[in-house]
Amino acid sequence: MASSLRIVPLTGVIGAEIQGVNIAEPLDRDVVAELRQALLRHQVLVFRDRALTPQQQYDFTVNFGSITEGIIEAAKPPVPGMTVIHSTNARTLNDQWHTDQTSVEVPPMAGMLHAVQLPSVGGDTLFANMVAAYDALTEPMRDFLDGLTATHNTQLLTQRMAAENKTFARMSQNESVHPVVRVHPETGLKSLFVCEIYTARINELSEAESRSVLQFLIRHIQSTEFQMRLKWELHTSVLWDERSTIHYAMPDYKETRILHRLMVDGTRPVGTRGLARAA
Ligand code: SIN
Repeated sequence: MASSLRIVPLTGVIGAEIQGVNIAEPLDRDVVAELRQALLRHQVLVFRDRALTPQQQYDFTVNFGSITEGIIEAAKPPVPGMTVIHSTNARTLNDQWHTDQTSVEVPPMAGMLHAVQLPSVGGDTLFANMVAAYDALTEPMRDFLDGLTATHNTQLLTQRMAAENKTFARMSQNESVHPVVRVHPETGLKSLFVCEIYTARINELSEAESRSVLQFLIRHIQSTEFQMRLKWELHTSVLWDERSTIHYAMPDYKETRILHRLMVDGTRPVGTRGLARAA
């Protein structure tokens, strides 16, 4: 029987709103399969107007895989693996373009956020399509990047936390090497896999070359043509593919903003020439 799910694209490049499904209740296998296909196609799925308890958010998210343990924990999580992103001053450390915790060897495959409390204005989240960012490069540039690896670590994050006097109940330090161009394990599409928070250097280049190439890439991946902007409403949820997108939390509010986040376990990133190795 066909489900009542409706998929409404939000832009021509990334994102869709999903209607006709109640994600607070157990979902049938066919609906989960449809959502997974929609996630692969649109990368970011937005669900409106459905309040979720932490357990309901967990039960929905676990349809896509096991829940990842975060590298940062601010307080005791309401359910295992849940991060409570609570901010009153807009500086959440997520106000730089990133994919979540690429400093670990096996970064998450998906993220799921649910809006619990919002400022009266502002606090949007932006997402960008890294397949489109890769495709927009010239062929010689794509060929050059295809063979490179990058070191991702928690150094920049730690420096920023120190500068802003931020502390967490738990934060682990880690470092991993990933391909600069990642091949999506399900779609086979290539995407740029670098970000502002975690990518420290490109291993096969000199210090100066690495700095320039990374600077170029970080600017390129932020181009507005690859983006969508999620305007939160109370009880909006978003599920996104962490393997082919980056995201950014807009720091433009002064009131309390609380989001609950879960991440889904991924697989080790594979490049065009297989697994990345340290240079
Ligand atoms: C995140 O970076 O995972 C959270 C994004 C947000 O707070 O909008």
